[in-house]
Amino acid sequence: MAKPKNKIVGRQKELKALKRAVSLNRNVLIEGPVGVGKTFLVREVLEELDRDFERIDGDTRYTESKLTGWFDPPLVLKKGYAASCFIDGPLVSAMKKGKILFINELNRMPEAVQNILLPAMDERHITIPKLGRIDAKPGFLVVATQNPREFTATHAVSEALLDRFEMLPLHYQSREEELQIASHQTQGKVSTELLERAVDIVRATRNHPSIKRGASIRAALAIITLVNGGMDLEEACLMALPSRIEMISSDEDALQIIRELVSTDTFSEFKEKKSPQKSSRG
Ligand SMILES: Nc1ncnc2c1ncn2[C@@H]1O[C@H](COP(=O)(O)OP(=O)(O)O)[C@@H](O)[C@H]1O
Ligand SMILES: [Mg+2]
Repeated sequence: MAKPKNKIVGRQKELKALKRAVSLNRNVLIEGPVGVGKTFLVREVLEELDRDFERIDGDTRYTESKLTGWFDPPLVLKKGYAASCFIDGPLVSAMKKGKILFINELNRMPEAVQNILLPAMDERHITIPKLGRIDAKPGFLVVATQNPREFTATHAVSEALLDRFEMLPLHYQSREEELQIASHQTQGKVSTELLERAVDIVRATRNHPSIKRGASIRAALAIITLVNGGMDLEEACLMALPSRIEMISSDEDALQIIRELVSTDTFSEFKEKKSPQKSSRG
């Protein structure tokens, strides 16, 4: 049986803005912290608009030829540098076919690779050595996502490139919406108390004075899954949170802060109900 489609919760304003901008052939950059729903929003909009797209996921080792395409060496040996020996990369393919280029995590790509996009977005053509000029068909545009600059493993995006994009910032959603997301993803099979507890702990990591970067709804979903599978809440949080938060100072003990967040109890009954599972672990 097919998995039920994960429906988007809230975000009506952002959905509308992104749809409108794409329909108007604008390049859009969606910026927000990890797990805020950037990729999800883009996929939802491209699907709703029924637009063909090429997706690439930026990483620090992404190369120029991976983006544009490359000459296939065995073919070149046979035929020389003929156009038929060129394997289109996602950029060239999107330009030739008038598709959307969806670049997930734009600022994880090296700057030199990002810069290839400039003429493509601006003048709607690029020139590839030994191949020549590629023109973009109508419909070609770039929709990209990125984490804010202070995140690790990001490269700077040049002012020139930013100047080609309309910007759509995504912020964390309200408590009610985050509860709804968690509830949908667990298909109503989890107690409201657990949903609330996980979402509240994760939201608390975003406001903690010792934490530079808090966790996303993904962390809440992980906590819920672990607790629902029989784990004690503290144990689940100690597993789900450390990889998803960043401390302001490396001297701070992340695990201790997580323990404190779990024990600051707004739902003390919840812990009592869960206590039999604690003892069963020995
Ligand atoms: N508004 C939303 N409605 C439903 N699910 C959401 C929403 N926002 C985020 N999610 C879920 O949260 C998780 C993280 O979303 P994702 O798009 O991968 O984040 P990002 O790309 O910003 O890191 C995914 O499991 C996604 O399905
Ligand atoms: Mg993403």
